[in-house]
Amino acid sequence: MTTEEKIAHIFPAASEIPEAHRLSVPLEQTKYLIGGKLIEWPGEKQNVYSPVCIKGEADTEPQRIGSYPKLTETESLAALDAATAAYNNGRGEWPTMSVRDRITHIENFVRLMRGKREEVVRLLMWEIGKTFADSQREFDRTVDYILATIEAVKNLDRDSSRFVIEEGIIGQIRRSPLGVTLCMGPFNYPLNETYTILIPALIMGNPVIFKPPKYGVLLHQPLLDAFREAFPAGVVNTVYGEGRVIVPPLMASGKISILAFIGSSRVVDSLKKQHPKVHRLRSVLGLDAKNVGVVLPDADLKLAVKECILGTLSYNGQRCTALKLLFVHQNIADEFLKQFSEAVGKLKIGMPWEEGAVITPVAEQHKTDYLTELVKDAEAFGGKVMNEHGGKVNHTFFYPAVVYPVNEKMRLYREEQFGPVVPVIPFSDISTPIDYIIESNYGQQMSIFGSDANEIASLIDPLVNQVCRVNINSQCQRGPDVFPFTGRKDSAEGTLSVTDALRAFSIRTLVAAKGTDINKNIITEIVRDHKSAFLSTDFIL
Ligand code: G3H
Repeated sequence: MTTEEKIAHIFPAASEIPEAHRLSVPLEQTKYLIGGKLIEWPGEKQNVYSPVCIKGEADTEPQRIGSYPKLTETESLAALDAATAAYNNGRGEWPTMSVRDRITHIENFVRLMRGKREEVVRLLMWEIGKTFADSQREFDRTVDYILATIEAVKNLDRDSSRFVIEEGIIGQIRRSPLGVTLCMGPFNYPLNETYTILIPALIMGNPVIFKPPKYGVLLHQPLLDAFREAFPAGVVNTVYGEGRVIVPPLMASGKISILAFIGSSRVVDSLKKQHPKVHRLRSVLGLDAKNVGVVLPDADLKLAVKECILGTLSYNGQRCTALKLLFVHQNIADEFLKQFSEAVGKLKIGMPWEEGAVITPVAEQHKTDYLTELVKDAEAFGGKVMNEHGGKVNHTFFYPAVVYPVNEKMRLYREEQFGPVVPVIPFSDISTPIDYIIESNYGQQMSIFGSDANEIASLIDPLVNQVCRVNINSQCQRGPDVFPFTGRKDSAEGTLSVTDALRAFSIRTLVAAKGTDINKNIITEIVRDHKSAFLSTDFIL
């Protein structure tokens, strides 16, 4: 089959889907979790369509894969009440529980979660079109993240289990919870990135209200029972429905203490403004990015092409860390484009379950219209699609388009395409990409491809103060998960990583006393008789 034919016949008939990957029946989710109870929803439901379309007799259409409750403000506020009661002004069971006991609850959750791997992976694949292999990786990476978080919290607790004596004052310094946390993850890593905020929030003692992203809702359903079973009532609450209906009342209540959100800055800007108590709200945010790759004239082209392919097109470019603009030195631009376009041509296109498939349908409905608009706009300003078939569309499938030469008049120059369009800009003076990065509203990461240590060093120093990670001869990425993940400007607020997240979801609190005899006696008695969970030298092994 030619590529053209493959694109035209990319979607299967229902009977052509391998049995192992079928969704036997649509998942009609009818329950939501509030206050430790799975509550049946009698009201309106939201249909869920997969980006995978199915070829029928007459037409090809997105596959309907289920539905979920479209809750209203009333249920949202009920979730808030349940979480607020669980926190009980910091006096609830969960915020006052010892770290050791909280870990036991999280371990129990992981055990239950592992049993749901197959179901979650299948739903992840169907709901957002992520390849089967990547969906499995997302699940496993999430479990590893939770286990690493448990180890990190043990270390933190060990460090806090001692007294500090300074200037005659005895202190015990720990990290304490902040309060009710609203967790909202993104559609592209609906499991992993949600859990990288949800789990640290929980383990530090904060009750959580969790709202899944617009795409990537059903995959959480198999875990609802695990949440209910593993945590005390009200510690984990879930709300579903339209964000603009169910989220603003939560923010406007003034009772949310942490807004943990991974998604677009446009959405979060308006949410933050709805909170009446600005200083009460802590925000932990992972937002937009337009990461740049700079290919220097002495770059190892084979390596640069390989990494730029991964950086621009892994999961169809739907990663916040994706390389979204390539600056290529004009001396090597032709050769780079030739090799890059050839490499794009070799990427396997297909359905998410097909072995080796890299380019799959894009997750968001109507996204291909937007991507087509971007390419057309670039063409109107002198850009060309450099690769064969670039920009061809079949329903939710968009064949990657390499667009060159991109300039500042084009939308692709500034907009975060979040899809398989690769804009390339030629440059002769290194100040061109540097100035772009300085003027950009975003500041997450960048990649430099080159072989001269002096030149790379001269770029690192100005650029580390513009972005938060400079990658040398490698694509941008979040992992390893112990590395800090953050950004400047409109790209992030706060820092996430296995250890940083524990800080983000807690505040340092201490008990201090002048070292008088009476105080020493009081502290000794409290510690010796285990009278306090906070003031304690208990050590987790
Ligand atoms: O969407 C943004 C993700 O955090 C990217 O993670 O670099 O591991 O794909 P990744």
